[in-house]
Amino acid sequence: MRTVHSLKELRTILRGYRQQGKTIGLVPTMGNLHDGHISLVRKATEAADVVVTSIFVNPMQFGANEDLDTYPRTLADDQEKLRLAGNTLVFAPTAEEIYPEGLARQTRVVVPEVSEGHCGASRPGHFEGVATVVSMLFNMVQPDFAVFGEKDFQQLAVIRKMARDLLIPVEVIGAPTVREADGLAKSSRNGYLSEEERAIAPTLYRALETTVAELASGRTDFEALETEAQQTLTGAGFRPDYFNIVNSQTLKPATAEDPELTVLAAAFLGTTRLIDNLSVRR
Ligand code: PAF
Repeated sequence: MRTVHSLKELRTILRGYRQQGKTIGLVPTMGNLHDGHISLVRKATEAADVVVTSIFVNPMQFGANEDLDTYPRTLADDQEKLRLAGNTLVFAPTAEEIYPEGLARQTRVVVPEVSEGHCGASRPGHFEGVATVVSMLFNMVQPDFAVFGEKDFQQLAVIRKMARDLLIPVEVIGAPTVREADGLAKSSRNGYLSEEERAIAPTLYRALETTVAELASGRTDFEALETEAQQTLTGAGFRPDYFNIVNSQTLKPATAEDPELTVLAAAFLGTTRLIDNLSVRR
């Protein structure tokens, strides 16, 4: 497995693969890889001849008071995990390689509607940063398909719309959330949790499960359900950011007629912000 840091080298290698008629799968990541990321890589290796995993802590998607500086950078560990998972090529560029003129001068991609609300409301500019870097990764790698985790449900919706609207010929594939034994969704940010916070953290998933069970039983008093869940989270020691029941396609507030609903949640434990979601067909 090779690692390249420059776009020039990436393009040279990928040109060779394309000339041999090989299909290419892309797994975009910010590194600090856990089993969730590795499941994306394994999914990609099942479908493509060549799998490129990008590792880039994208400064454009972090807000001023967020964890850009402290975000864990663990390239050597990540390389080993990717090698074992059958990954072909790691693309680990510097910020200068991706944004040579700096962030202020960079052309940006704005995806309306699905970027609004939920994480988009709490993290202004976040999805603009995600859509911009992912569209650039699609152009740099020109993969046949790219795999993203469903844990970042709104991100996946933003990327699907971005690819559709900009006619980018990359198939966007979602892969199921990988969880710890107690239900906590695997996340690079779980490493920030203290022992005490880690013990509380699965309450987020349990609150989602409870809400989904109520929805499956036919309840349509969505606001009351959201409030009940927020109270559960607050009682457990969380500071809820949002707990929203939405239409799974549009991410707009749920209506009684929607055939599929998704419960989107974000909550702080101390300074760590956890997100998760669950969907239900009715
Ligand atoms: O989900 C992530 O790790 C990032 O948002 C992504 C898609 C790699 C873009 O930087």
